[in-house]
Amino acid sequence: MARNKIALVGAGNIGGTLALLAGLKELGDVVLFDIVDGIPQGKALDIAQSAPVEGFDANFSGASDYSAIAGADVVIVTAGIPRKPGMSRDDLLATNMKVMKAVGEGIKMHAPDAFVICITNPLDAMVWVLREACGLPHNKVVGMAGVLDSARFRHFLAEEMQVSVEDVSAFVLGGHGDTMVPMVRHSTVAGISLPDLVKMGWITQEKLDAIVDRTRNGGAEIVGLLKAGSAFYAPASSAIAMAESYLKDKKRVLPCAAYLSGEYGVDGFYVGVPAVIGADGIERIVELELNETEMDGFTHSVNAVRGLIDACKNLEGA
Ligand code: LMR
Repeated sequence: MARNKIALVGAGNIGGTLALLAGLKELGDVVLFDIVDGIPQGKALDIAQSAPVEGFDANFSGASDYSAIAGADVVIVTAGIPRKPGMSRDDLLATNMKVMKAVGEGIKMHAPDAFVICITNPLDAMVWVLREACGLPHNKVVGMAGVLDSARFRHFLAEEMQVSVEDVSAFVLGGHGDTMVPMVRHSTVAGISLPDLVKMGWITQEKLDAIVDRTRNGGAEIVGLLKAGSAFYAPASSAIAMAESYLKDKKRVLPCAAYLSGEYGVDGFYVGVPAVIGADGIERIVELELNETEMDGFTHSVNAVRGLIDACKNLEGA
């Protein structure tokens, strides 16, 4: 049986980590693409040489020509620039929009049947630009952010309550920016909701509020520490979880930037919501009933995303 093909567009820190994780999980053969010739080839060779030690079988190659992604089953896009300390993700819009258009053209030409996962920031707007440029069905193009933001939320909660991360289930709704909405009411430890855990004394309301804030600022905290570049291990793990769910038809319920056509009152763009990912891509949007506070937060976040997409449309018309 032929192996799946995974194309990674962008061979920076996230691209390299994605390639290693895809290899370790034996998801398929990996092509690393980057416009900077040499880097994708070098990283591919380096990772291929780790395979005998780790004991996984996959082919790794590097390329700087889009034809190398031909026939990919999954394309994960990390191309573009990351922010620096003091910048917001939105400051990357104009530069990364141009990159997404070029990448979208490459996907359209060479990998029109792929499931496409976008990681480039500002995420919700860039996945919209990428989809417009590649013209693939909306359910086959998705943004990675919800898994990452939720993983941060889960990590902070597990650390505070001294429990295994495996038993913490949490998720974040809305755009991948300062307006994201960590969903306290829907997050649990072994099925016990966070509000009940506050009542049980496992965590104080003050600590929980601080964790919600820290989750919202999770990306900026790492940018501030790294000084040059942004997070890459957790973003790569998050995208690989989405790719694996697609390739193995696992039908995991994962928060991701999905295209909405009326769900949650949003029509015609991408926002972070829980969705089922299986062999057909985004197979179902999970529509939760939100209370007033959650709806206020979500609406605020949706408006921020809409503003970014309007900015993209204006730049396009300029
Ligand atoms: C993240 O959340 O780590 C990424 O969106 C990168 C960033 O700029 O924060």
